[in-house]
Amino acid sequence: MLEVIVLAAGRGTRMHSDLPKVLHPLAGKPMVAHVIDTARDLGADRIHVVVGHGAELVRGAVAADDVAFHEQAEQLGTGHAVQQALPYCSPESVALVLFGDVPLLAASTLAPMLEVAREQPVLLATTLDDPTGYGRVLRDAAGHFSEVVEHKDATPEQRAVREVNTGVLAATAAQLTDWLSQVTNDNAQGEYYLPDVLTIAREAGLSVAVQLAADASQTAGVNDRLQLEQLERTRQKQRAEALLSQGVALADRQRIDIRGELICGRDVFIDVNVVVEGRVVLGDGVKVSANCVLRDSELGAGTEVEPFSYIDGATVGARCRIGPYARLRPGSALDDAARIGNFVETKNSRIGAGSKANHLAYIGDADVGAGSNIGAGTITCNYDGVNKHRTVLGDDVFVGSNSTLVAPVTIESGGFVGAGST
Ligand code: UD1
Ligand code: CA
Repeated sequence: MLEVIVLAAGRGTRMHSDLPKVLHPLAGKPMVAHVIDTARDLGADRIHVVVGHGAELVRGAVAADDVAFHEQAEQLGTGHAVQQALPYCSPESVALVLFGDVPLLAASTLAPMLEVAREQPVLLATTLDDPTGYGRVLRDAAGHFSEVVEHKDATPEQRAVREVNTGVLAATAAQLTDWLSQVTNDNAQGEYYLPDVLTIAREAGLSVAVQLAADASQTAGVNDRLQLEQLERTRQKQRAEALLSQGVALADRQRIDIRGELICGRDVFIDVNVVVEGRVVLGDGVKVSANCVLRDSELGAGTEVEPFSYIDGATVGARCRIGPYARLRPGSALDDAARIGNFVETKNSRIGAGSKANHLAYIGDADVGAGSNIGAGTITCNYDGVNKHRTVLGDDVFVGSNSTLVAPVTIESGGFVGAGST
């Protein structure tokens, strides 16, 4: 059985934020949610999140059936934090400790540790050019692990060591419970240090395994907004490179941000400064021009989005043209070959096949048939101050410029409205 313990009680003072540190988003998702997803990828039977600062907010953000929360009222150290969760772990299980502010660690890096942890305690370490602030991994003359010494407790010679503790370790829950009961807070910070369990294990005659993480960005923690921005860039670069290798044409891999999930067909082109949020699906041959925001939307094959358009909660058919400067709000549904031009806003409306609103219009709560034309300055007056009403236009309707359609109103197929009508 695998129990994963995620430490997320710290305040994160250096973020200078009212939001608890672990809730700051990375690629559109709270940091701690990335860590919880990694635990799921590993097949965790239970995930324990130790909360303290902003506990209620953290619970609210990541509550799920497979997640248990344990409150650490006072932050007395990483060892003390783990002690809050251990009584709820089955003793013979492997317990893996992760930090809520180390969001890019991949399950594939952690999986080998779980095998080892059945036999001996194991620590994940890495080598840094600048190890300042980290706990140093000290080894004996034979090269075997001897202890972790925190930066603040280290001598100048020890500080010269570049191999550091990433904070991740695994052992059986029973072992951790036993060893933690022996850890004291007799150190520079007056805290119960989790890595001290490894010293106790070694003194009890066990050997401690050290696994090295090859890629330092995976084990990097976030203490301030500078580090968060660095990890955001790392993650975005990974995503852009993955899209390029799947065959998506990006104008510049450094100028696209995917804060959610992007699913693309063949021969999709995405120009610079495009932001994707939530779940976005782009069909074959979709072209997204510069400076567009796409959120929770699906665009059919061959559709083109011109610059500066904002598409949110929309379903768009094939071969549509949107923008420049269009705004599709939630509930917008465009049938094939529809055209929504500059400074046109749609909301909760269906636009039939081949219909057009090319300039300066508001189409809210409307059902527009096929082949209709909505002139510049047309507005659906969908709200009477109390209720919203629908506007229904049939097929091949022509609405002249500067018309106000006061809902509820229906214009049958083939209807003609002269410019400036109400
Ligand atoms: C810790 C390690 C250090 C390692 C470094 C890697 C200890 C004593 N030191 O140091 O060896 O090199 O991480 O980043 O473990 N937390 C709680 N409750 C507490 C204290 C901390 O939940 O009482 C959480 C924090 O929210 C954070 C994590 O544990 O997510 C690490 O705590 P932090 O104080 O940042 O430890 P470091 O000093 O960075
Ligand atoms: Ca830290």
